[in-house]
Amino acid sequence: MQPTQLIIIGITGDLARRKLLPAIATIAEAGELPPDFKIIGITRQPITAGAVIGGVHGLSEHRARFLRKHLVMHRMNLEKVADYTALDATLTKLTTQPGTQRLYYLSIPPQFAQPVVMRLGESGLAKVPHTKLLLEKPFGTDLISAEELIAQTKAHFTESQLYRIDHYLAKEMAQNIVAFRANNPLFNHTWNNQFIEKIEIIASESIGIEGRIAFYEQTGALRDFVQSHLLQLAALTLMDVPKQWNDLRAARLAALQALEPPREIDLPHVVVRGQYQGYAEETENPGSATETFVALTLFSSDPKWQNVPVQLISGKALAHKQTEIRVHYKRFGTAEPNSITLRIQPKESIEVQMWVKKPGYGNHIERLPLHFTYSDHYQALPEAYERVLLDAMQSDHTLFASSDEVLASWRILAPVQRYWQMQNVPLKIYKKGATIEDILSS
Ligand code: BG6
Repeated sequence: MQPTQLIIIGITGDLARRKLLPAIATIAEAGELPPDFKIIGITRQPITAGAVIGGVHGLSEHRARFLRKHLVMHRMNLEKVADYTALDATLTKLTTQPGTQRLYYLSIPPQFAQPVVMRLGESGLAKVPHTKLLLEKPFGTDLISAEELIAQTKAHFTESQLYRIDHYLAKEMAQNIVAFRANNPLFNHTWNNQFIEKIEIIASESIGIEGRIAFYEQTGALRDFVQSHLLQLAALTLMDVPKQWNDLRAARLAALQALEPPREIDLPHVVVRGQYQGYAEETENPGSATETFVALTLFSSDPKWQNVPVQLISGKALAHKQTEIRVHYKRFGTAEPNSITLRIQPKESIEVQMWVKKPGYGNHIERLPLHFTYSDHYQALPEAYERVLLDAMQSDHTLFASSDEVLASWRILAPVQRYWQMQNVPLKIYKKGATIEDILSS
């Protein structure tokens, strides 16, 4: 791997503290970091590397020592182009080997990210050889703003320099959807509308908005979760499994492009929005219409999936933290239906619901699970952000969203966004700790 400078813009933020720095320490422990690796932590405030690392929870002394050795702080005002020239000088001074790559990780709120992209371009830093840019979602707020954002970014960076992160794609179990489908003909042959009745893709979270008031008020569950994580999980479930790893992105894109935006006439029946009780007080916005829960049913135009409803559900402050894909098989003749659950988190597992004879003198059957849990066979799984960082360092774009994928997903959601804007669609208010069934049946 090339020598690497990882420039984290927003080093004092939540993401760097909770995910990025621990991920780097884990990659280092596995011996996978590139040679001559440096983290350059960008801040506006005078804060030392020791203080930043001290803010990372649960770090062993060994890991803290490693991070202290590799983290260099750099103060700058992200609004001043001149400060980017000074940053360039610092990075050049820290470079000891030719061919050193610079990875800019924008770990800052979306409204600040785009101006930084522009200044990296205007200052010439984007054109320095071996420069890459890692961007966190949300990529726009709707189809039009996403198109603008992509055009602005492309004015300075080529698509091959860009790594648009959807950390759900980098989750171990998300990759296992592909492996499971590709390598188990038993299931792969039945993965179509001849056998499958419906698919549910569910991401329920027990946490609320965790103080991210300004962000969440402008975002809501549809933009925060459905546009990115859930649609990508849907793409992995519906796509044709490609023969080559490198073709995964194109296969996801084709699946997204086949998903039909809901028809206006169907909207009242295919989308539900909700908000947890207390949200409006928490955000101090009594009239807030921001949804913390959404359920949306889509259909694919792919002949293999015609008439199979794909229901996407996501919500905050629900009873459990659970992300899973439930594939419901059709009933055949007198035989009962089966189902498969691919559990993305927690307790990553695959479960097939089977029917077996209940022991005894009678002839009764009952539904029992055939179960495979990762933790029974493997130790801790890699964190998504470890994979994100390593793949970007190795120039592997496969688990990052392309600009076309971003646009395809906004296109699917555009009618829902219009419907919510134009009409006074009621919000279902639900109690914290409610189940999805509670909300959908209320
Ligand atoms: C982020 C969302 O992308 O994913 C958050 O902005 C959400 O609202 C988080 O809580 C969930 O990620 P994970 O990996 O904890 O399931």
